[in-house]
Amino acid sequence: MRTRWIIGLVVLGLVVLGVVAIGVATRGIGLSARRSPWPGEASLARAMRWWTLPSRYRTLTNPLGASPDTLRAGLAHWAEHCATCHGNDGRGLVAEGRSLFPPAPDMRAETTQRQSDGALFYAIEQGVPFTGMPAWSTGTPDGERESWELVLVIRHLPRLTSEEIAEMETLNPKSPAQVERERQIEDFLKGGR
Ligand code: HEC
Repeated sequence: MRTRWIIGLVVLGLVVLGVVAIGVATRGIGLSARRSPWPGEASLARAMRWWTLPSRYRTLTNPLGASPDTLRAGLAHWAEHCATCHGNDGRGLVAEGRSLFPPAPDMRAETTQRQSDGALFYAIEQGVPFTGMPAWSTGTPDGERESWELVLVIRHLPRLTSEEIAEMETLNPKSPAQVERERQIEDFLKGGR
């Protein structure tokens, strides 16, 4: 009995010491979203997401078939709402996606593609806490359908064609400066000032 108490106290002491040591070592180091994740940090965060994923999403498959129409609708939605951070091609090589912490991942890679349809759907609907990934759920059947269309898009990313990318570029949101510039070019071509 006594030995158990001693072991318990030693373990508690070590935990307290550990917390104090971490506190002292990290005081004033500054937190920047510019750094790369520490070794193991990203895998730990992914493992946490998988562990906490409600069980019905682990094996859920996409109820939508990949017809040309559903894929086209999904690609348009992706170009309008997701490409700002993920890029049209899903590689995340855009200024906004790179500057987030953690940065937007290359969604064509295994780390994303090996996840179940349900896990991707859940990430889209509920977002990813403590990251730049917003929750897109509208709580409506139409909203859910759109999220499933986006899961189709994610599966299609490794096979995107240059024609599809060119079409998405016409749908990407434009800044007011770009809109104004295009208006000026149009006026010029029409022979105005
Ligand atoms: C404001 C930036 C931003 C926007 C806009 C955004 N995302 Fe994300 N998204 C992220 C970031 C950052 C991550 C990485 C989170 C992480 O590391 O766990 C992410 C992760 C994801 C993941 C999980 C990928 C994986 O490998 O686990 C999916 C799925 C996803 N996004 C889909 C979408 C879809 C679909 C849209 C559009 C409706 C969208 N995202 C819009 C920033 C964004």
